[in-house]
Amino acid sequence: MMGPNMERIRLYFCRTRKSFTKYKLGTVILLVFLYFVWNVPVMTIFDLCDRPHYISMEFTGGVGNKMFQYAMMYASSRDKALTMATELPIELTDVFNVDEAISNTQVAKLRKFYCFKTIEDARDCAFESNVTTTKNDGDIHFKGYFQSWMYWVTYENELRAIFQIKSNITAKAQRYIGDLLLKNNITKQELEDLVFIGIHIRGGDMLTPSKQDFGYQIATEQYIHNAVGYFNGRFRKTIYIVCSNNMIWAKSVLSKYANMKYVENMTWELDMAILSLTNHSIMTVGTFGWWIAWLTGGQTVYYKYPFRPGSELSKMYSSTQKDHFYPSWVGLE
Ligand SMILES: *[C@@H]1O[C@H](CO)[C@@H](O)[C@H](O)[C@H]1NC(C)=O
Ligand SMILES: *[C@@H]1O[C@H](CO)[C@@H](O)[C@H](O)[C@H]1NC(C)=O
Ligand SMILES: *[C@@H]1O[C@H](CO)[C@@H](O)[C@H](O)[C@H]1NC(C)=O
Ligand SMILES: *[C@@H]1O[C@H](CO)[C@@H](O)[C@H](O)[C@H]1NC(C)=O
Ligand SMILES: *[C@@H]1O[C@H](CO)[C@@H](O)[C@H](O)[C@H]1NC(C)=O
Repeated sequence: MMGPNMERIRLYFCRTRKSFTKYKLGTVILLVFLYFVWNVPVMTIFDLCDRPHYISMEFTGGVGNKMFQYAMMYASSRDKALTMATELPIELTDVFNVDEAISNTQVAKLRKFYCFKTIEDARDCAFESNVTTTKNDGDIHFKGYFQSWMYWVTYENELRAIFQIKSNITAKAQRYIGDLLLKNNITKQELEDLVFIGIHIRGGDMLTPSKQDFGYQIATEQYIHNAVGYFNGRFRKTIYIVCSNNMIWAKSVLSKYANMKYVENMTWELDMAILSLTNHSIMTVGTFGWWIAWLTGGQTVYYKYPFRPGSELSKMYSSTQKDHFYPSWVGLE
């Protein structure tokens, strides 16, 4: 007689306790077979439920969203000793040091057999402590945006290693900056007290009618001038490296300044790598610019009004927004 398929039986027992109550008779018959027919030792039967628990994430949105989602999942997996079981988006695996924790087929199987408890954040751009304090007694599936550094600040150093941009991309970015200095005849001596400031201008894609209805706003021209003024007031010699998905507007706003260098027609990962090599950041709105500022690690200036006051989007933030923007970052209008 053929032996039992222990893997399937393990999945049956581990799926959820509901299996036992829902299929009482089936469970009893299975136990009888395990013990009397297949002579499986009692201890092994008890051990059937002893398995690691898993954590997964529903990745959605642009790359900045996905970085927040990954960071949230990573920190929770460390806090709760859960194994990450999720299909990672290629934007993350192609560009950063994130490893596939578990293969895609294995993930599919786990998600089919185990009951992941879905936990969703109520406010996408704020820290929600009740999301993190969920009892640690099973498999967790996160759904949401989790746009707060507070979820993972304890693991920030580990995340810096994970979100290190792959070396071939960084090498290209370094060559780009090197060429730019050469083209502008910047000498080694001049370079010594030159401060690089990255500007990321997120443009019109935030202004679709549905996004505007929800409350999205983009940075104003006045904000950009205030932000440039902020750094010009602090450093004697500056050079600005500008990336934007609305370069025509960016150039028209910045045309009155001499020391602006525009990075055009690059891939998003090169934009990110080039800007992260600068010393300080001017962000406008959006999570892509947020992560560039984080990767850069210098002083950051952000636009204070990424949402229209009173809008649905405004309710996604806390009143101070300091759980979304780092308290040390400077908000200007
Ligand atoms: C956390 O608390 C908020 C506000 O009280 C609530 O809306 C939300 O459903 C809670 N979330 C979870 C996962 O318990
Ligand atoms: C970096 O290398 C990977 C393979 O390791 C390749 O897929 C990718 O296109 C390269 N990126 C650049 C910008 O050269
Ligand atoms: C850099 O120097 C070269 C040679 O002296 C000159 O032709 C070129 O115009 C200079 N470029 C800039 C941006 O000043
Ligand atoms: C970037 O692409 C646009 C549209 O194809 C083109 O007009 C522009 O000259 C390019 N800029 C650079 C610096 O290559
Ligand atoms: C600015 O960044 C460059 C390139 O990363 C670095 O070599 C330089 O030391 C930095 N300068 C300052 C003043 O931090």
